[in-house]
Amino acid sequence: MFGRERIEYKTPEQVLLMRRAGLVVAEALSAVRAAAAPGVTTASLDALAATVIGDHGATPSFLGYHGYPATLCISVNDEIVHGIPGPRVLHAGDVVSVDCGAIVAGWHGDSAVTIVLDEADALDEALATTTERALWAGIAALATGARLGAVGEAVEALVDEAQSAGLNGGARYGIVQEYVGHGIGTAMHQPPDVLNYRARDRGPALRPGLCVAVEPMLVRGSRFTRELDDEWTVVTDDGSRAAHWEHSVAVLEDGIWVLTAFDGGAAALEPLGVTIAPLL
Ligand code: MF3
Ligand code: CO
Repeated sequence: MFGRERIEYKTPEQVLLMRRAGLVVAEALSAVRAAAAPGVTTASLDALAATVIGDHGATPSFLGYHGYPATLCISVNDEIVHGIPGPRVLHAGDVVSVDCGAIVAGWHGDSAVTIVLDEADALDEALATTTERALWAGIAALATGARLGAVGEAVEALVDEAQSAGLNGGARYGIVQEYVGHGIGTAMHQPPDVLNYRARDRGPALRPGLCVAVEPMLVRGSRFTRELDDEWTVVTDDGSRAAHWEHSVAVLEDGIWVLTAFDGGAAALEPLGVTIAPLL
């Protein structure tokens, strides 16, 4: 989609501004994680995120984007992405993906988490955990790889390994292909696309100033998707449950920095043998 377009490489000073946006997103998602529970409506989580973003002097980036009506996307169970918050009440065992974006001084941050509410099905837990591990494997590839295609290779390899280990009850996981990660900076969505699967095109070289959102979406069944009549909510075609994790990441001179993680990604990347760059 963005293949031939120009990439916006950021200066270290611009990455620091993006870090501010990333931390606001991290704060909002952390508040939503603490509040998500059976009996809570998705609209109330949306209001909470709007408050946190506003309290930090930031602006929600989804609200008004192509007419999108909310601060968060909240996608429950068979919903993969772009679920619209509303009166829906969450229940025990629900798989709840929460996606949040914010703008500080014109710079964007974008991140998503999947929360599995208590009394979770073990295979739903495994789905969410595997998707998070796939995210971190993809992020680590930004540090160790030569080209952006390393991300999709790492994500797909992690998923292959997890399903071979029986984490999906012996079935295959689906990796969603219709929605992918993206460059991020002065706009939420920029070139280049960041695929979550192996592809022939190895993509652009990984070099300092590249800032991307990595966002794998995994499903317990077939990878095919469908959009609901609200023209936003994307669900699995076969009704299987889905998970979505996302971080915005900067490639710097001396390594990478996860802009939407409080610790820059240090704790999650350490076991993968990746140390994060000093942020300036
Ligand atoms: N944050 C989503 C992404 O990860 C996009 C949200 S679309 C919107 O790319 F319309 F809700 F803003
Ligand atoms: Co995104």
